[in-house]
Amino acid sequence: MTQTLTILGLESSCDDTAAAVVRQTGDTPAEVLSSVVFGQTELHSAYGGVVPEIAARAHAEKLDICVIEALKEAGVTLKNLDAVAVTAGPGLIGGVMSGVMCAKGIAAATGLPLIGVNHLAGHALTPRLTDGIAFPYLMLLVSGGHCQYLIVRGPEDFTRLGGTIDDAPGEAFDKTARLLGLPQPGGPSVQAEAENGDPKRFRFPRPLLDRPDCNLSFSGLKTALMRMRDQIVAEKGGLTRQDRADLCAGFQAAVVDTLAEKTRRALRLYLDENPASPTVAVAGGVAANTAIRAALQDVCTEAGATFTAPPLRLCTDNAAMIAYAGLERFRSGARDGLDLTARPRWPLDQSSPALLGSGKKGAKA
Ligand code: KG4
Ligand code: ZN
Repeated sequence: MTQTLTILGLESSCDDTAAAVVRQTGDTPAEVLSSVVFGQTELHSAYGGVVPEIAARAHAEKLDICVIEALKEAGVTLKNLDAVAVTAGPGLIGGVMSGVMCAKGIAAATGLPLIGVNHLAGHALTPRLTDGIAFPYLMLLVSGGHCQYLIVRGPEDFTRLGGTIDDAPGEAFDKTARLLGLPQPGGPSVQAEAENGDPKRFRFPRPLLDRPDCNLSFSGLKTALMRMRDQIVAEKGGLTRQDRADLCAGFQAAVVDTLAEKTRRALRLYLDENPASPTVAVAGGVAANTAIRAALQDVCTEAGATFTAPPLRLCTDNAAMIAYAGLERFRSGARDGLDLTARPRWPLDQSSPALLGSGKKGAKA
């Protein structure tokens, strides 16, 4: 029998309040019936970063409105659902708790099964939602809080090949924007400036390329940028528009080169075990960067691998990925009780040793 599953997903682990409805019948492609995202950028803009307490309160205020809108847009009611999935970590704990409490309330009131989802699994499974790619595949997960290479073998089967030992690339983009007086989130503003800049004028380091593994480091780029900026200011009294664009272009080129080279290495390791029809997928907010996408595409073409990148709106935080990851867990028989806990840290690969480094948004692995 081909079973149709309709799942409501909730996401509130950082600064986006999101709800979505996803449906799948048997093995046919999954459908995003709705995906509503309420961003909080303005609430945090005066502080230069996400303020956890403000984020948690805003999630608590907006989650119910977001759910109502997602159900309405999908043309369904709570009665048409098979389960409610929610991000149960990792993330800013107040926000994660807001989402988990909202989902528990819905489950308790309706009797719907509750499914806790790892936010990172949501990102990592997105290419299955958008492109229906089969297990296994190599995933580069790059966001504001995370950066890791994963072999994805199943909805809850991940092996980490390497990751950042300090900042995540999104964090580095955000800090770069802050240092140059550009608006947050930094990724899109730095990318836009970089388009008019000369990537060769400033020579940024390519961290950890001298080491053979798949680990990455991005915190040195921000220090290098600060020094270059301060030197220009000391020499000329300020930054011109062109200086800013050249700094952004140099910084972005360093991130692109580092990710490209480490992806080449991760792909080599992946191919040792999985030589047949390799697929590489990228997900997370930084996967919205067009220069990074183009470089990863080139690496895959060189190695004869297929490259998949989800559409931009499903790369950044959203609840469709949570609903879909919940759907995969539900299909495999997983259910959570009303004792589901919110977890600030929750590595996808529990067996690999923790990587060094733990930034504002939590552990990097
Ligand atoms: O996945 P996401 O929405 O939230 C986290 O789970 O972190 O990622 C947000 C991050 C931010 O740091 C933002 O600056 C970055 O993704 N980002 C980008 C771009 N668009 C968003 N970074 C580089 N280039 C972009 N175009
Ligand atoms: Zn995310």
